[in-house]
Formats: sequence, structure tokens, C-alpha cells
Amino acid sequence: ALVVLLLIYLVSTFSFNSQENRKDPPGPKPLPLLGNLLQLDLGRPYNTLLEFSKKYGPVFTVYLGPKKVVVLAGYKTVKEALVKYAEEFGDRDQLQIVRDFNKGHGVLWSNGDSWKEMRRFALTNLRDFGMGKKACEDKIIEECNFLIEVFKKFKGEAFDTTQPMNCAVSNIICSMVYGSRFEYDDPEFTSLVDRTNRNIQLAGSSSMQLYNLFPWFCKWIANRKEFHKLADANKKQNLKLFSRLKETLNPHMCRGFVDAFLVRKQHAEESGITNSHFHDENLIATVVNLFAAGTDTTATTLRWALLLMAKYPKTQDQVQEELSRVLGSRQVQVEDRKNLPFTDAVIHETQRLANIVPMALPHRTSQDVTFQGHFIKKGTTVYPLLTSVLYDESEWERPHSFYPAHFLDKDGKFVKRDAFMPFSAGRRVCLGESLARMELFIFFTTLLQHFRFSPPPGVSEDELDLTPRRRVPTLLQHFRFSPPPGVSEDELDLTPRVG
Ligand code: HEM
Repeated sequence: ALVVLLLIYLVSTFSFNSQENRKDPPGPKPLPLLGNLLQLDLGRPYNTLLEFSKKYGPVFTVYLGPKKVVVLAGYKTVKEALVKYAEEFGDRDQLQIVRDFNKGHGVLWSNGDSWKEMRRFALTNLRDFGMGKKACEDKIIEECNFLIEVFKKFKGEAFDTTQPMNCAVSNIICSMVYGSRFEYDDPEFTSLVDRTNRNIQLAGSSSMQLYNLFPWFCKWIANRKEFHKLADANKKQNLKLFSRLKETLNPHMCRGFVDAFLVRKQHAEESGITNSHFHDENLIATVVNLFAAGTDTTATTLRWALLLMAKYPKTQDQVQEELSRVLGSRQVQVEDRKNLPFTDAVIHETQRLANIVPMALPHRTSQDVTFQGHFIKKGTTVYPLLTSVLYDESEWERPHSFYPAHFLDKDGKFVKRDAFMPFSAGRRVCLGESLARMELFIFFTTLLQHFRFSPPPGVSEDELDLTPRRRVPTLLQHFRFSPPPGVSEDELDLTPRVG
């Protein structure tokens, strides 16, 4: 029976594919069932997609297993689709693992009215609780000082910056969401941070990618169970934190996003609104989304920035010279950014080159759309290939190198570049963009005011490898630099030189 079912499936997939192909944007010929999987570099699929775009043009079709995906490539095409056709390309396509788990709640993976309401509410409230404002700046500065103390404790010894960096960045989300930060050695906090981090890694593992494409076949082999276990544990822990907040809730003085949400929920219940989106599932899913989307991204970018400083010491010299000339030893403020054009250019160039979300998150067409002469059916999965924007050869002078001058004019003034789109664009543009930009600026400048970053002993700058680690998720390119030959991961040393 299994063989018969498989045959039916193969035949139907194949005929479905060839029927659809008549209208689809062009693309490489798919194999039945496997689609174009065998042609993709599964570790870094965005690289193969970039190559495909050179052959098939800026709008093309690939089959990830049986799943048809339309890929948008190049600055002009991605911008046009996400901004001019914002509505048509603005739905989110849910991965199977997400469908299993959050049932369309929250803000990252949801659609329709619930998404609209959650996005609006999250944006307004994160703003109210500091995002883009002075209060937020103060929180980041305070957190940065805690982080510096952790770095100093190592007294020049080698250590891995991942955990303290994740804690610092998570604490910013904690302040926004719960209204308070946690100590870095608080086990409740570290387990929340570690589980979130591990789940992002799991979401990107090859077996999970296979599960998303072939859920019926791969549910036994994927590490889905571990993912669910960790996600459930995080959910429980968040619920515990919510109940503590509930006990001391004062509707006239909200401490953070959770308080504001609980007040709205209470209000809806008292008014007898039965179809309100302010229910427990949306609260928990949105909070989990904010941690997942707002921690690894910012922390990873910061670690990229430190790595690039270690690799390019002359650039580090220039940043430190500018910081000391403009600020002396005083604490940096967001408003200093305009007087620090070189530093600002280095941060932008780090984000461009690090390219940490190379395929954005999967979008889906909300209606039939004819785009650049191609017909794309409602409900089609769409990948805006951000790599192709950040490395667009017609937009960047040296797309594959670290070149801060991309963001400087001939007089050394900072220039904005339209093709700088690490946060994507349009309806689904990153909700935390302004918070992330503020964090990157304050953390990076403050760390560089206090420390110098260099390669581990015995490793030259040239040997520092900027190749992103394989096993790259199709969601987030989880950064690690591979150690040079003869050096184990444990020996890699990002030791800050104190002073
Ligand atoms: C979505 C990048 C930090 C919250 C996204 C997307 C990208 C992105 C590329 C997908 C956009 C799309 O689908 O077209 C980044 C980068 C960050 C960062 C590069 C840091 C360097 C943050 C932070 C937060 C956050 C700090 C939390 C406050 C979100 C949310 C979404 C999102 C909630 C989903 C938006 C929606 O679907 O409506 N981000 N992000 N991000 N980001 Fe960020």
C-alpha cells in the first residue's frame, strides 16, 4: 500500500509540476518528488539560488522537494515586489514545524487580522516601553555596562562571547516585554536564553529542513521532539513569569508589553468582546517570537562585528581613533551617530556582509499576481533573496569584501544606500529594526571604547575565516567562523585586550 501511495504521489506531483510550469516563472527542471533539491547547496542554499538568478533572471521558480517556491533576486526586483506589491507579496508562509507548534498565533508566522493587530500592538507598545526612545537607550547603555564587567572578569583570558552576548541582548527584550532585566547567572534566565538559542539552531538543522518539506516522511527522523520539548519548556517558563506579573498588575502603570497585553485582554473580556485577538495564545506566541527574532539576530551581528575588527585591525584602529577623537572616554549616546560617520559605515558594512537572514523569512502571495510579466498564483511561497540585494553587483562596488567605504562619500561623510536591506522591506519588514539599530550602535561603540579585539594567539588575521558555517538554516544564517587548520573550536580565542 505504501508503494502504491508513493507512486500516486509521484505521478500527481509530476503532472502537477508540468501543468503549473506552463505559467510559472522560469527555473531549473525539477525531478519528481525531489524537485531541485539535488542541485542546491543544502548548507547554503542562498548561494545556489544566487547562481540560478544569473541563469533564469530575477524572478524564477525552484522546487524544494514537492514545494514550489518563487525566488525574487536583485535589489530592484526585491524592492519592487515588497514595496510596490506589498499587499500581494505580504503574507507569511508557515513552515511545518511552526504550524505544528504555534497554530498561526503571534506576529512572526501569522497572517490576516490577527497578525495586523499583533504587529500594530507590538510596535506601539515596544515604542511606548522605550523602542526608539531615550528610555530604551538608557537600558541598552546599562546592559552594555553589565556586559563590559563580564568581559573584564576574563582578564585577557580566552573566552567565548556567545553566551554573555546572548544574555545582554535577551535582557533588552526582557526589559521591553517584562519591564525588568535578569542577572546573567540567574538559572531561570540562562535556561530561557539557552533554549531559545538551541531552538533556533534546531530550526535550521538539515533534518528539520527535511521535516518541513516532507513532514509525513521525516517526522520520525527529524529532531522535532527536542524542538517541541524546548519550546514547551520555554512556554511554561514564560507562563510562570506572566502569572507573577498578573498578581501585581496595575492597569495605570504598565511595566512592559505583557502588562499592556493583559490590560487589553481584561478590557476585551469585561466588554464582552468574544472575537478579540488579545488571548493567551497570542500573548505567549508573540512574546516567544520577540525573543526568537530579537536575540540571535542582534547578538550574531555583534559577534560578526567583533570578528571583522579582529580580522581588519586597521579598520579597528580607525574606529577607535574616531571614537576617541569625538567622544573621548565619555559614554556614547545615539545622537553621537551623526558625528561618527566611519563607525556608522563599519556597522552598516558589517550588517551587509554578514547577511544574517539571507533569504528573509518565507513570504506567500495573498492573491494572484502578475509581476514583471510572470503569473504567480495566490498562496505561492516566495523567497525574497536578501543575499542578492546585499551582494547585488550592480549596487555595490565590492559586493563580496568588507568595504566600509560603501557607506562613505569622498569627504568621509556617511551616505545611506537604498540596497542596504538586511531588515527586508515592505509590510513584513523587521518589526525590531529601530531597536536593533540602536543596540548595534551602542553595544559596538561601547565595546570598542573599552576593548581591542584580536585573533587567538598563533593565528594571523589572514587566517581568520569569514566563511559562514555549513548546516546553514534557510531561515537564519547562524554565524560561526571556522577555525583555521590545526586549531580546534575550543582554542579559538576572541580575547579582548583590556584597556
Ligand atoms: C522579521 C532581520 C532584529 C523582531 C525580520 C525579517 C528580517 C529581520 C530579514 C524578515 C522580514 C521579511 O519577512 O521580509 C533582523 C535583523 C536584526 C533583527 C538583521 C538584527 C540585526 C530584530 C529585533 C526584534 C525583531 C531586535 C524584536 C524586537 C522581528 C519580528 C519580525 C522580524 C517580530 C516578523 C515581522 C512580521 O512578520 O510582521 N527581521 N531582525 N527583529 N523581526 Fe527582525
